[in-house]
Amino acid sequence: MSKNKLRILVSGSTGQLGQELRYIARQYPSFTFDFKNRKGFDLSSERSINQVLSTPYDYFINAGAYTAVDKAESDKKTAFQVNAKALDHIGKYAQARTKIIHISSDYVYHNDPNRPLLESDPTKAKGVYARSKLDGENYLLKRRPDALVIRTSWVYSSFGNNFVKTMLKLGQSRDELNIVADQYGTPTYARDIAETIMHMIINMGISTYTKSPKSGVYNFSNAGLTNWADFARAIFKNKGISCHIGETTTKAYNAPAPRPLWSMMSKEKIQRDFHIKIPNWKQSLHSCLLELDRSKT
Ligand SMILES: NC(=O)c1ccc[n+]([C@@H]2O[C@H](COP(=O)([O-])OP(=O)(O)OC[C@H]3O[C@@H](n4cnc5c(N)ncnc54)[C@H](OP(=O)(O)O)[C@@H]3O)[C@@H](O)[C@H]2O)c1
Repeated sequence: MSKNKLRILVSGSTGQLGQELRYIARQYPSFTFDFKNRKGFDLSSERSINQVLSTPYDYFINAGAYTAVDKAESDKKTAFQVNAKALDHIGKYAQARTKIIHISSDYVYHNDPNRPLLESDPTKAKGVYARSKLDGENYLLKRRPDALVIRTSWVYSSFGNNFVKTMLKLGQSRDELNIVADQYGTPTYARDIAETIMHMIINMGISTYTKSPKSGVYNFSNAGLTNWADFARAIFKNKGISCHIGETTTKAYNAPAPRPLWSMMSKEKIQRDFHIKIPNWKQSLHSCLLELDRSKT
C-alpha cells in the first residue's frame, strides 16, 4: 500500500455496489482501494469488524448488507446482526480519522406524503429489513455523528441479481408478465451510486464546497418517477422485447415483507451540498443495458 495515497475500505465487495465501486476504482489512481468480501470482513462478527477497522483507513464505504428483504422476515436475527448491530460495532471500532459512508434504504421512510421524501421526514420503517436498516442508521449516527448515510432505492446493476436482469430473462421466455403497478419510486443504477460516493469523497475536503464537513443522512437515487410495471416496460422497449406487461397490485402480489407504495426521494440536499448531477432513471437504465451488452461480448 502506498503511503501517500488515501485509503478506502469497501465492505460487501461481491455485491452490486461493491462490484461497481471496484469497476470504477481504476479511474481514481490517487486512492488505494481495499475491497473485502464477506470472508475477509464479516459484518455479523464483532471480532471481524474490530480487526478490519483497526487499520487507519481514510474512508470506509459500507456496501455490505443483508438485502434479502422477504427472507429477512424469517431470518430476523441475521438481518439485525448485519444491518443494525454491525453499525454499532463499526461506530465503536472505526478509527476517528476514518470517514464512514454507509448505505441505507428508502424503505426506512414508508410514508406517502405524495411529494418527494425529505431526509427530515419521519421514518416509519415496516418489516424486518426496513427496521434493521433504520436501526443501523441510528446506531451509527449515535456513535459517529460525522458519518454519512446515503438512502437509496430500487438498485440494479450489470453485476449481481436484480429486477432488470430478472425482467430480461423472463421477457425472453414469456409472452406476458404481471408486474406490480401501485408502488412508485425511482430505480437507481449502482454505477451512479458508486460515482456519487467517489464524488462526495473527492469534494468533501474542498473548503469552497463545504465550510464545515458534511455528515448525516442524504437521499440518493436517479431522477424521475415510475412504478415497477412501467420500469419493466422501459426495459423491454429498450431491448425490443415484445413480452406484454399486465398490471397487478402490492396486495395481490402478497410478498412476505411490506413494501412502501411511495419511495420517491428528494435529492435537493445531496445536490446542494455536494454539487452532483443526477441522471434520469431512463438514461441510466440505457447505460446499464449497454454495459450488459458490452460485458457479454
Ligand atoms: N438492492 C436494492 O434494491 C437496494 C435498495 C435500497 C438500498 N439498498 C442498500 O444498498 C446497499 C448495497 O446494496 P446492493 O444492492 O449492492 O446489495 P447486494 O448486491 O445484495 O450485496 C450485498 C453485499 O453484502 C454482502 N454481505 C451479506 N452479508 C454479509 C456479512 N455478514 N458480512 C459481510 N458482507 C455481507 C454480500 O456478500 P455475499 O455476496 O457473500 O452474499 C454482498 O457482497 C445495501 O446497504 C442495501 O441495503 C439496496
